[in-house]
This record gives sequence, structure tokens and C-alpha cells, in this order.
Amino acid sequence: MSPTAQQWTPAHGEPYRPVAYRPERMPAGRTLERAAELRERMGQRRTVRAFSPDPVPEQAVRDAIACAATAPSGAHQQPWTFVLVKDPEVRRQIRAAAEQEEQLSYEGRLGDEWLAALRPLGTDAVKTHLTDAPALIVVFQQRYWLGGDGSKRKHYYVDESVGIAVGMLLTALHLSGLAALVHTPSPMRFLAHVLGRPENEKAFAVIPVGYPADDCEVPDLVRKTLDQVLVEV
Ligand SMILES: Cc1cc2nc3c(=O)[nH]c(=O)nc-3n(C[C@H](O)[C@H](O)[C@H](O)COP(=O)(O)O)c2cc1C
Repeated sequence: MSPTAQQWTPAHGEPYRPVAYRPERMPAGRTLERAAELRERMGQRRTVRAFSPDPVPEQAVRDAIACAATAPSGAHQQPWTFVLVKDPEVRRQIRAAAEQEEQLSYEGRLGDEWLAALRPLGTDAVKTHLTDAPALIVVFQQRYWLGGDGSKRKHYYVDESVGIAVGMLLTALHLSGLAALVHTPSPMRFLAHVLGRPENEKAFAVIPVGYPADDCEVPDLVRKTLDQVLVEV
């Protein structure tokens, strides 16, 4: 972790200090154009599980993480850490540990109902993306704030905040032309251990990033229509 990150402390108990916020208002026509374009582009996002080993522009991945880190968070506590894993040996360790857990899961630990829900996705315990994708982001939730002197502060709405940040990460990656997968091997405790994370951090997801393999296939999924998800009152 950089010294700056270590020195960051929450603004807990400090007075409210307002600053002016006057973003330029976009004409309605432009808003409609942008919204329609974004809807179209986001509709093309798919979870990729077969990656090309081709490298990606690393700065684009850092920029996407920086976008994710602008996410709103409960009491502005920003309870997230993004670990960008590049070391092939660490990636091999993560894959070996993940596949060990996944083996148990697919052999029955998940239970029939969960396995039935996964069947249409065509997934199994082999997780080639963990070593094939050129970049691997492991997202951690900071369950509480941990000061350098061991002091602790409660964090609020950690699941919600990190979930929103990951949504923004996926959006940024997709709009930058990169493919990703949200992988949640269960249980994920091994990730904090392999990556040497502090005691306040709990793994949230592993996100391989790259380009789809030339022969990449994805399940033929049907998304709910807007009518099915939107209720207007
Ligand atoms: C919280 C969460 C956990 C997920 N975990 C896994 C996982 O462990 N393995 C996997 O292959 N896909 C995983 N996925 C990906 C979903 O299966 C995928 O998003 C879904 O099938 C819809 O496909 P799409 O992203 O292409 O629209 C996960 C997605 C989310 C949001």
C-alpha cells in the first residue's frame, strides 16, 4: 500500500464544510442521445470466461479502478481496496486455491438448487481465466477502518458501497473496450491470505480483465426487458 493510502484517515466527527457544486447543465437533447448510446453500449456487455492472453493497456485498468474509487459510499468511508495482481506465480497460487474450493462446491457443497441455477451458465470447477486473463483485480471490502496504530472505526453499508464500486468498475472496463468476469469462489478466505491483506479486509470478488479469446462463447442468456424491471408510480 502506498504511504498516502496508509495516511488517509476518515473525516469522522469533523464539521460540515460545504463547497459550491455547479456542473454545466447538458441540453436535454444531448442527454437523451448520451443515455440512448450508453444503453446500447451497456447492452453489449457480457461476462467473459475465456480470455485471450494478449496484454491490455495497463493504464486503462488503473483508470477503471480510479473510476470505481469515485463511487458513493456509506458516510464516505470508501471501504474498498483493489489489488491488481500481475505476478504469474501469485496468479497460479490463486488459481490452485480457487479450483480446490470450486471442486468441493461443484461436487455438491453448493447444494442441488444452486447447482441447478448455475447449469445454464456452463461453468465448472476449472478456472483458466485466473491465469489466462492478462490482468486480475481482487476487490476487498474494508469491514472496518484500521489505523496504523491498530485503532478501529466502524464502517457503514460496506456491502452496498463495494457493490456499487464494482458496478462502476465493470462499466468503466466495458466502455474502455475491455472484458471482465466477476468471479466469487466460495469461500474466498484464501485470497486475503495469498495476497497478505490486513485483518480488516475481506475478499469481495476476483475480476479477471482482458480481451475475449478468439473462440470465446457465452451462454445465450435472456435479459429482463425494461417493462419487467421498471415500476413507475
Ligand atoms: C455477485 C456476482 C457473483 C458472480 N460470481 C460468478 C462466479 O463465481 N463465476 C462465474 O463464472 N460467474 C459469476 N458471475 C457472473 C454471472 O454469472 C453473470 O453476470 C450472469 O450470468 C449474467 O451474464 P452477463 O454478465 O453476461 O450478462 C457473478 C456475477 C455477480 C454479479
